[in-house]
Amino acid sequence: MSVLVTGGTGYIGSHTCVELLNSGEDIVIIDNLYNSKTEVLERIKKITGKDITFYNADVRDKAALTEIFNKHNIDSVIHFAGLKAVGESVEKPMLYYDNNLISTINLCEVMKEHGCKNLVFSSSATVYGNAEKMPLYEDMPLGAINPYGKTKWFIEEILRDEAKTGNWSVVLLRYFNPIGAHESGLIGEDPNGIPNNLMPYISQVAVGRLKELSVFGNDYPTKDGTGVRDYIHVVDLSKGHVKAVEYAREHTGCEAINLGTGTGTSVLELKDAFEKASGKKIPFKIVGRRAGDPPTVYANADKAKKLLNWQAEYDINKMCEDTWRWQSKNPKGY
Ligand code: NAD
Ligand code: WQD
Repeated sequence: MSVLVTGGTGYIGSHTCVELLNSGEDIVIIDNLYNSKTEVLERIKKITGKDITFYNADVRDKAALTEIFNKHNIDSVIHFAGLKAVGESVEKPMLYYDNNLISTINLCEVMKEHGCKNLVFSSSATVYGNAEKMPLYEDMPLGAINPYGKTKWFIEEILRDEAKTGNWSVVLLRYFNPIGAHESGLIGEDPNGIPNNLMPYISQVAVGRLKELSVFGNDYPTKDGTGVRDYIHVVDLSKGHVKAVEYAREHTGCEAINLGTGTGTSVLELKDAFEKASGKKIPFKIVGRRAGDPPTVYANADKAKKLLNWQAEYDINKMCEDTWRWQSKNPKGY
């Protein structure tokens, strides 16, 4: 019995593969390497001492998927494969709808043909749209303010409808802000080009690849005026996936579950914690707000505890220490 991990060479996928292997699961990875490299596979092997079956293929390629399902006894799928850059999705909406929606529909069709009912999907806190009240609970109304967010929201709706046929066990995991790296320093986040997200930007300033951090606004109604987010260690997040696979095997239906810590950290607090963890000064300047950024986002994480018996363990200092270990050992990424 194997778990198919789509997007398994990506940032969250690679960390989840390590946790799956460490918990004794057999895994098969499919990734088209659009946003990742095969070196990741060597690193996962080095950490776990285990072999991995990898297919360089697109999840939109139904024939390739069918071949994989014919070859392996796959009982569960974790579907990470997708495009995730908010700004790019505004410029190229069709690319996002095509890649993210078609891959999911294809995957479900092939799963159905092979009697595989357990699906864990990478959703996002972005599906709460512009919610004004915090924390965010799973039963709050959904929405989205950019094409990327809409792909996650639409896929959730598709999977909820499909699950109503009674033949599925779907877990929609809504991630908050994943940061950090495996504590070996062998795998971590390796964005292409200039990072859009705060943590990789800070770590690339620390390692000398970028000059200074731009803080997007200090006039928000928050503790220090900068944006507040619920950062979660990628290893905690990965362990949540192992629990979600176990949950899917034992239940039917469709559940949306937040994976966050329930705690908010501001941009300046994260910068300060990173300076402490790395011993490096992070030069910064305050610039205008980034369009579409809400002041504060954090999760209510009770449902994950109740259904999955999972909660985040690592704090912001550990997230910074592990990011720095990865970034300083791999200044240019993989
Ligand atoms: P990532 O880009 O590092 O990983 C995604 C992987 O999917 C990449 O390796 C890419 O090559 C692959 N991929 C994309 N389209 C594919 C396709 N059609 N066929 C095969 N492979 C394909 O991103 P990540 O940060 O690891 O995110 C994983 C998932 O989690 C994504 O679905 C993302 O939207 C979601 N998510 C990420 C965050 C975050 O902040 N990182 C937050 C919420 C949700
Ligand atoms: C965090 C904070 C910025 C960069 C995004 C997606 C979301 C999800 C996670 C996938 C904000 C500030 C950032 C910088 C800054 N992904 N910032 N300078 O925007 O919360 O979430 O990634 O689902 O959908 O929107 O994360 O890391 O970009 O920003 O001041 O150079 O840091 O304004 O307050 P965000 P982020």
